[in-house]
Amino acid sequence: MTEDSITTAPLGAEAQDDLLTRGFARRDLARIAAVFGVGALAASVGRPAFASGGVPDPAPTAKVRIGANECWTGPLAPGQKAAAAMIGMGNRYSPHDDRSDFIKAVMAVEAVPFDHVAPWPGSSDPLCRAVVTYCSPTKGLVTADPTFELAGRTAAWLGASVKAVPLTAEYTHDVKAMLAANPDAGLYYICTPNNPTGTITPLADIEWLIANKPAGSMVLIDEAYTHFAGVPVASYLAVKHPDVIVMRTFSKLFGMAGLRMGYVITNPANLTKMMRYDGGMQSGALPVTSLACATASLTAAPLIAARRAEMQSARGLTLDHLKARGVTVFPTNANMFMIDWKTKQAKDMQAAFRKQSVEIGRSWPIWPTVSRVTVGSSAEMKAFCTAFDKVVA
Ligand SMILES: Cc1ncc(COP(=O)(O)O)c(C=O)c1O
Repeated sequence: MTEDSITTAPLGAEAQDDLLTRGFARRDLARIAAVFGVGALAASVGRPAFASGGVPDPAPTAKVRIGANECWTGPLAPGQKAAAAMIGMGNRYSPHDDRSDFIKAVMAVEAVPFDHVAPWPGSSDPLCRAVVTYCSPTKGLVTADPTFELAGRTAAWLGASVKAVPLTAEYTHDVKAMLAANPDAGLYYICTPNNPTGTITPLADIEWLIANKPAGSMVLIDEAYTHFAGVPVASYLAVKHPDVIVMRTFSKLFGMAGLRMGYVITNPANLTKMMRYDGGMQSGALPVTSLACATASLTAAPLIAARRAEMQSARGLTLDHLKARGVTVFPTNANMFMIDWKTKQAKDMQAAFRKQSVEIGRSWPIWPTVSRVTVGSSAEMKAFCTAFDKVVA
């Protein structure tokens, strides 16, 4: 990355031609440029709290913040140390080829080639870009219901068709129904572990989808929560198949949501396509503090395992508390769980917990009586259990 290679120009000629050939109207180009062309954070497309224009976020005032699937604590110690050391070198775009150092750390952990990895400031932006790159008025998106809505919202915003397919009885993605819902989609979005259920879709099911979808359709596997599950990951699929994209974020187990780091693993041709809306700006010019923090954190395997165990213990004590009171809690493999309030609306329960200074998560339209709760620290989960007994009694 050099100063010369940084461009804030809106969509280049190649990106414009691509959009027009894929069925977009000329009038669509300006709004796509407005989101992607000047490096604006596309995350706002899927974040009602940020997109609601001046409405304050209630969470920061709560004593216990278990609503937004963040980590209860900050970055791992080696990451904090590396970021602190980097601040004094923040005058340089790239003090030590830090982007390459980051990619090498990903290679070491994931066993993927250098040219298949691109760092990104979080995974929301590349997720939106993947939808813009592979969906269009003639190529739809297939997603699950409920799941993380960003891909669906971006596709709807583009004017692409969106099919949201209910999860199976085990709360996994119903890959056969997803393919049947649109046998020629531009993109199939799989979130595993799924947000909001925390459930894992077996790799065998994802492999089935890849083998059975038509050539040219993409499969995007969003593994934002995978470090909390500690299960085999999908990165090998992005190396084996040119039509698979795997996304990761440091916003969850790594405690870096505000530091904005993530990465994409896919065939280099896909990376080039996803970058052409901003000349590579989003992936190329990352805060060096965040890069250093992520590089040092990713390879800290014992600390990752310890944090996962800490979350599992806090989750276990909470679920035991709820089960002892006969509450229906869905099975989960991540730092979140779903509570079915049965006769009560989730938004009313959220308001009731807020009065106890506990900010729990939201619900999804398909399940209006079900709330998502993020697993915080043990102390936070004990406070949640105390509030639960007050609210539900
Ligand atoms: C499944 C999933 N993917 C992606 C993201 C985007 O996170 P970020 O942009 O912070 O990486 C989130 C955020 O909550 C998420 O839940």
